[in-house]
Amino acid sequence: MQSRYGLVLWFGLVLFGCGGNTSPSAEQGSATSSANLGAEIYQNYCASCHNSGISGAPKLGDKQAWGPRIAKGRDLLLQATIVGVQPSMPPKGMCFRCSDDDLGAAVDYMMLSAAAER
Ligand code: HEC
Repeated sequence: MQSRYGLVLWFGLVLFGCGGNTSPSAEQGSATSSANLGAEIYQNYCASCHNSGISGAPKLGDKQAWGPRIAKGRDLLLQATIVGVQPSMPPKGMCFRCSDDDLGAAVDYMMLSAAAER
């Protein structure tokens, strides 16, 4: 379990490091590709607020900020992402081309980042 989180995080770091499209050939089937999708959407739409923690946004990988949110469960977090959180989390995180599944992948990515051991 822990090592799987580590792997997902590792792919995330590879994406950070190379800024994009050098995805290592898929080793883990759909788990990996959905992690890559989530990382991509996160980087393009969510990072502007969630990397810096602007306006109180829970920062990527910040266990203290994410712990109580993760405890609410993925469904509620996804719902909050779709409708937004007043006043500063915009609906769909401003990714208006994103499907609910796309947003779910980004939420998964954020949840895993906070759950991974560092
Ligand atoms: C304009 C800045 C901004 C962008 C862009 C943004 N967020 Fe947020 N997000 C916030 C802020 C601020 C909060 C904290 C809201 C609060 O708890 O008051 C937040 C909270 C959240 C939460 C926790 C909601 C909860 O119920 O606790 C999730 C999940 C989330 N964002 C996902 C995303 C995703 C996924 C994206 C990209 C698709 C995204 N955000 C883009 C600002 C942003």
